[in-house]
Amino acid sequence: MAPLTRNRAAEGNVPTEMNATYYRQRASAALLVSEATQVAPKGQGYPRTPGIHSEAQVEGWQTVTDAVHEADGRIFLQLWHVGRISHSAYHDGEKPVAPSAIPAEGQVITPDLEMTDFETPRALETEEVPEVVEQYREGAANARRAGFDGVEIHAANGYLIDQFLRSGTNERTDRYGGSLENRLRFLREVMAAVTDEWGRERVGVRFSPLSPVHGTYDDTPEETFRGAAAVADDFGLAYVHLVEPNDPKPPVQDDGETGTVFRAIREAFDGALVANGNYDETTARDAIEQGYADLVAFGRSFLANPDLPRRLKEGLPVNVPDEETFYNGDERGYTDYPTWDELQNGASFETLDALSELSPRG
Ligand SMILES: Cc1cc2nc3c(=O)[nH]c(=O)nc-3n(C[C@H](O)[C@H](O)[C@H](O)COP(=O)(O)O)c2cc1C
Repeated sequence: MAPLTRNRAAEGNVPTEMNATYYRQRASAALLVSEATQVAPKGQGYPRTPGIHSEAQVEGWQTVTDAVHEADGRIFLQLWHVGRISHSAYHDGEKPVAPSAIPAEGQVITPDLEMTDFETPRALETEEVPEVVEQYREGAANARRAGFDGVEIHAANGYLIDQFLRSGTNERTDRYGGSLENRLRFLREVMAAVTDEWGRERVGVRFSPLSPVHGTYDDTPEETFRGAAAVADDFGLAYVHLVEPNDPKPPVQDDGETGTVFRAIREAFDGALVANGNYDETTARDAIEQGYADLVAFGRSFLANPDLPRRLKEGLPVNVPDEETFYNGDERGYTDYPTWDELQNGASFETLDALSELSPRG
């Protein structure tokens, strides 16, 4: 299961029993990757996202990992720092931090659920960067204490590590910017800290080389992400998790930029490659059979189908995800999506109209 932010943590950004129920329902995944979880208060940029920096959060996550383990599942925590994708309203009026003082494109959602323009972030001082690396280390250590089976370093989707990696968001002139080697340094230091805590077999990393989210871009994505994958290879990480563009629909054909970047990553990294982005049963099977990827992660379809592995395996119809309830809210659109068995038994649910529609495979 791909990481899915659901904005349903309690006061103090602490995971709850309701969150434990949601993950337990999905424990038949080969591997669950948790929603992105901030390693420090400054790493937050959305309301009610869980953290992994306070004792209460560690205890809350322990409830989740216990529930998943009781159901024979395995779960990694996704380690997150949003960098510039935030707002001073989350930080007592202090600006968000980033590699460079370049505002993101688009709008941010405040703690009061208002949409407002991004502010210009404050560029981290050189000597502050190792402090942020330490926050990843502490987050990784806390994830271990909270009973996770491993961690995924979130280096995708325009957040802090991605901001260091990509040339469009990194104009630094110190050892963390300029050359590719320098843009890779923050990633390398985070991986060193996290693998120190976990050992390499229990650590993965997520990249989204071509995602233009929040105006994030890179002048030479093939070179940058070949380099990033080589860093993951140096540390012998368990897997690289790749977010592919929706269009063209994966698995990407041999020609075109996505295919080129994908192949460069595959060549540079010897471990398992997890593909993600708009897969269904047929395209996922093709991707594995053609050796395009070793594993496929499912996001939205897992959100709507707690028993997705069974549905795919047996070719059963799937529930349709309801976008209205993706972020924020309560049990509705969260823990009330029915399993196949529950549907067969005609159980009634406090659900949405979308759930009564069943789409054919995929
Ligand atoms: C509601 C929602 C929340 C998401 N939250 C995260 C997240 O916390 N971390 C992350 O790396 N990607 C996140 N993503 C991206 C998904 O992991 C995935 O890459 C995307 O949904 C495409 O895969 P899919 O077509 O199987 O859904 C999120 C996507 C959605 C729809």
